[in-house]
Amino acid sequence: MTLPPLGSRRLLARPLRGVPGLVPLLLPLLLAPLWAGANCPCQDPNLCRPISHRPNFEVFVFDVGEKTWKFYDWSQITTVVLFETYDSELMCHAHSKGARVVLKGDVSLKAIMDPNFRASWITQQVQLAKTQYMDGINLDIEQELSCSSPEYDALTALVKETADSFHREIEGSQVTFDVNWSPRYTDRCYNYTAIADACDFVFVMSYDEHNPVWSKCTAAANAPYNTTLTGYDDFIKKGINPKKLVMGLPWYGYDYTCLNLSKDDVCFTAKAHSPPCSGVLTHQVPYKEIMKQVNSSLSGIQWDKDQKSPYYNYKDSDGRIHQVWFDNPQSISLKAAYIQNRGLLGIGMWNANCLDYSGDPIAKWQTEDMWRALKPKL
Ligand SMILES: *[C@@H]1O[C@H](CO)[C@@H](O)[C@H](O)[C@H]1NC(C)=O
Ligand SMILES: *[C@@H]1O[C@H](CO)[C@@H](O)[C@H](O)[C@H]1NC(C)=O
Ligand SMILES: *[C@@H]1O[C@H](CO)[C@@H](O)[C@H](O)[C@H]1NC(C)=O
Ligand SMILES: *[C@@H]1O[C@H](CO)[C@@H](O)[C@H](O)[C@H]1NC(C)=O
Repeated sequence: MTLPPLGSRRLLARPLRGVPGLVPLLLPLLLAPLWAGANCPCQDPNLCRPISHRPNFEVFVFDVGEKTWKFYDWSQITTVVLFETYDSELMCHAHSKGARVVLKGDVSLKAIMDPNFRASWITQQVQLAKTQYMDGINLDIEQELSCSSPEYDALTALVKETADSFHREIEGSQVTFDVNWSPRYTDRCYNYTAIADACDFVFVMSYDEHNPVWSKCTAAANAPYNTTLTGYDDFIKKGINPKKLVMGLPWYGYDYTCLNLSKDDVCFTAKAHSPPCSGVLTHQVPYKEIMKQVNSSLSGIQWDKDQKSPYYNYKDSDGRIHQVWFDNPQSISLKAAYIQNRGLLGIGMWNANCLDYSGDPIAKWQTEDMWRALKPKL
């Protein structure tokens, strides 16, 4: 029951690079509440100060490396999670725009059962954030947990202790936690209300919502409208304040290889026998690849009225039919409207690098359109 794969969220992050030239002996100096200093990599040493402003609307961005960040829409961004690599140039730039730059935090649930281990892990994260002039941490603990397991309360404690340490040690810092698209249908039984209470807000990963096993092995949308919004309703019903929820949208889609395609565009990906849907071929595709392919597809962009999602069909070089489901400004704007209606804290995406920043005129327009779709419509 592991279809489709959670691909990109499962990448093992490379270790963060330290500030060049920093040796451990200097650490105690940096821990003093004196931010401006010789080690600040920014031209203006003031840019090494943490951001303390709390925006009314969050635009929460995951960055996975390279220099595409130079082309992001910084007029909107409030937080960037450096998911793969630290980049001091990005930190200086983000701070110059009033945006926070935060660490990605992942730790084994087994290990955090030990309160001493928890404390030392948190101390390490705070020190890393300080030496890199960062503004907090995004906890991305995507591990299975059963409701009765002893790690259940340890995870809540980890979030609370991380938030307390960061808030105490770095002025104005932000601690957030990534949750599944729904508190239901999940192998992650977390204490969602207590976790949301303990941290600044949670980022809801409203994607990877389709499992072919649920639909006679057919392909379907990555983040259908109704399924997505029902997830938020369920979090709110559990007692989570909407102002603690940030909607996370996919800037990627799923490419399914079809065994056959029905006249009404249903793509069967496997024979529905046991084991269920075995042999389904699917992989994630970033929006930039989708937009390069769609004009030469068999169908062009189609719209599924029930799922409120675009898709298209194409034939590969071996003659096999594929169906690609994705999100575009149209589907994203519909979901974003819910943020206003229910008073959520903001919006974000996995991940900002998925767009085309090559500068090609058509791609540039499509990329701007995707960023624009995040804006609240007043
Ligand atoms: C979640 O954590 C809170 C605070 O620690 C606790 O009071 C509550 O009982 C927990 N909820 C569940 C369902 O265990
Ligand atoms: C949305 O989903 C809910 C729960 O599954 C269902 O009751 C409702 O009819 C759906 N609404 C639409 C518009 O499909
Ligand atoms: C497509 O394949 C599925 C699964 O094997 C099968 O149930 C269905 O009848 C097929 N449809 C067509 C149009 O061949
Ligand atoms: C694809 O087709 C659309 C609609 O005809 C057009 O606006 C767009 O420029 C085309 N994209 C590319 C990459 O050629």
